[in-house]
Amino acid sequence: MTTSSPTASLSPSVTLGQQLRSSPAVHAAIKTIVDQVRSTSAQITDVRPPNAGLKESYDTLMKRAADVRGRGLLYPYIGSGVGNGALVELLDGSVKWDMIAGIGVHFFGHSEPDLIAESLLGSIDDTVKHGNLQTNFDAFEFSEALLAEARKHSRLKYSYVSTGGAMANENALKVCFQKHAPASRVIAFKDCFMGRSITMCQIGDTADYRQGVPLSTLVDYMPFYDESQARAMGMKRYIDLSVWHLNQYIDRYPGQHACFIFELCQGEGGFNVGNRDYFKALMDVCRARKIAIWDDEIQTWGRTPRMFAYELFDLGEYVDVFCVGKMTQACATLFTEEYNPKPGLLSGTFTGEGPTFRVGRRIIEKLRDGASTFYGENGSFAKHHAAFREQVKSLAARHPEWFPKVTDALGYEHEICGGIGGMMKFTPYGGSKDKIGKACKAIFDEGAVIFSCGHGPYHIRMLPPLPVFNIADWPRVFACIERGMAKVV
Ligand SMILES: Cc1ncc(COP(=O)(O)O)c(C=O)c1O
Repeated sequence: MTTSSPTASLSPSVTLGQQLRSSPAVHAAIKTIVDQVRSTSAQITDVRPPNAGLKESYDTLMKRAADVRGRGLLYPYIGSGVGNGALVELLDGSVKWDMIAGIGVHFFGHSEPDLIAESLLGSIDDTVKHGNLQTNFDAFEFSEALLAEARKHSRLKYSYVSTGGAMANENALKVCFQKHAPASRVIAFKDCFMGRSITMCQIGDTADYRQGVPLSTLVDYMPFYDESQARAMGMKRYIDLSVWHLNQYIDRYPGQHACFIFELCQGEGGFNVGNRDYFKALMDVCRARKIAIWDDEIQTWGRTPRMFAYELFDLGEYVDVFCVGKMTQACATLFTEEYNPKPGLLSGTFTGEGPTFRVGRRIIEKLRDGASTFYGENGSFAKHHAAFREQVKSLAARHPEWFPKVTDALGYEHEICGGIGGMMKFTPYGGSKDKIGKACKAIFDEGAVIFSCGHGPYHIRMLPPLPVFNIADWPRVFACIERGMAKVV
């Protein structure tokens, strides 16, 4: 019997892992699966109501979900695992327009063949999870793709991946605290949202989300930019007042502020769009007073008329620390050379999974490669936004009684639709929380998944999968919305 050396069959320049990933048999198998997904997905072409035969078992599944969670799901949404672009099939056999996409996660829609292929290739890794101690290379390729775009218009240099937006924000906060130790205060905008960890729910400006949580984080709040107030007061006076307000905090607690967290277009807070001059004036103060500028783009990234919201406002030069998540699948904290923390500050068992990193990297590449189509004033995201506003206007023209005046706590009147790019909101019922909640559920039943945002006035919000959504389909979505809203009235 002859024994062979374990390395005898190896080519000196290729690992077995590389051989496996480039194996024609693996790629042929992936193609077979993707073709099957494609042909199944193609059968979904329009909304449809639940299948009566499946409804009963669906209700049982909803109950099982409630039994393990301790409360029912907000929406009776459990996906079947197949969709087609902006349409998704649920386990009750119904098909709906997905206009919220996992709160901004599935920007390339459902059953997207290219992403499924990436995910399949990632899933043949030797392990499901990668970590800080032991990892395959996909995590770094994800960061390389992200940094290549980020470095174009900012000083951001490094990327540290994590498994969720709140964790990316936790890491950002630690980076800021370490750099500016012993400063322990944070400045944030009114109505901001940063995630659900103990610290982030304290910075986030929603009292309900921190009920019973002991307070340990010192936060000072600045008003977010308000177009109506700026117009009424005059822009210069509005900005001067805000700068005075910010300086007051800093003078009250000298040297104690580590960072100012900027969400340039607020998500949960109400799809409020910022303003360059306003932000620049506040950022100039931060620069002068040595306070880190931290930009949370977890909800905005990729979907405004520029890839990065800081590009939209031409403020990339100011950003010290930056967070991204949701659409990128893997989450990341980016920072400049000066903010690169000392070893030991950031780590954790998991960084993510091969499919997550591969799909996330591919999404960044798709946005990069399609940038000239997607972005800019005449890009498809801006065009979608205009089409959305047209739909709202004609809905309001047909049903003016659904759209009474929208006023805020100070009596300033607000438009009935707003947001920017792929962040779309409209405000029926004068922004009533109760009626908007009911409308969301009725619209869901009529075939469109949407959600709310804001803290009063409340709004209906959408984060549609724009790259795969046909602009001609807006009236079909608004037909569902109109039927649902009619039920509420
Ligand atoms: C601006 C912003 N930051 C942070 C988060 C938290 O992200 P995650 O829910 O992935 O923890 C969110 C989530 O909605 C967000 O919108």
